[in-house]
Amino acid sequence: MSENVVIAIDGPAGAGKSTVAKGLAQLLNYVYVDTGAMYRAITFIVLRNNVEDEIDEIIKIANQADIKLRFENGVTRVFVNGEEVTENIRTPEVNGKVSDVSKIPEVREQMVKIQRKLGQNTNIIAEGRDTTTVVFPDATIKVYLTASLDERVKRRHKELVEKGMNLTFEEVKENIMQRDRIDSSREASPLIKADDAVEVDSTNMTIPDEIYKILEMIEKATGRKLKQSL
Ligand code: DC
Repeated sequence: MSENVVIAIDGPAGAGKSTVAKGLAQLLNYVYVDTGAMYRAITFIVLRNNVEDEIDEIIKIANQADIKLRFENGVTRVFVNGEEVTENIRTPEVNGKVSDVSKIPEVREQMVKIQRKLGQNTNIIAEGRDTTTVVFPDATIKVYLTASLDERVKRRHKELVEKGMNLTFEEVKENIMQRDRIDSSREASPLIKADDAVEVDSTNMTIPDEIYKILEMIEKATGRKLKQSL
């Protein structure tokens, strides 16, 4: 087994995977891998090339894509074939298409390959669909982060309002429920909790609580003392 640490976090939409993963990455100086950003980047290129109905073209784009993620000051900057697409990948158009693109098995295979490479030589925290099952089946630690539906809606709503988006609680709830439906039903890869993942129900936890809990898990799994040195 290699010396580097891979923390993989999966779980339903809105539980706070990315907030917790970013916080941990900054604390520990690990590389943060936003796997959703990779699928969004491919989706953006697909839409720009107008090939959203041509599976072969989508697969070709995914196979040729050189994706780089650079996490700086709390933001993941995303580059495809050298072009920065950070601002382009969080739009209603991409949101509306990303699920279809991410369902294509060949696209997934390619993204998984890239993610695995990222986890080969460095300590990383990867969050997103399939990270604990398909992508890093032998991660050092697997966390399945959940929270009640209401709590997830509350968190996502707060996050969006803070970003200046004018959405009602009900609209966000509908969106999260739709994500849950897609996540549980997609044939290519339904949302699954890995057998050896530790479930963390964060419904009544604060973000620092969650980070602390996962830090303890990392200490236990690696024998490294982390909390003292922070
Ligand atoms: O985490 P996110 O909302 O940015 O994810 C965007 C989409 O990509 C979402 O539909 C799930 C999908 N995805 C996936 O299928 N597999 C992954 N490893 C990561 C994301």
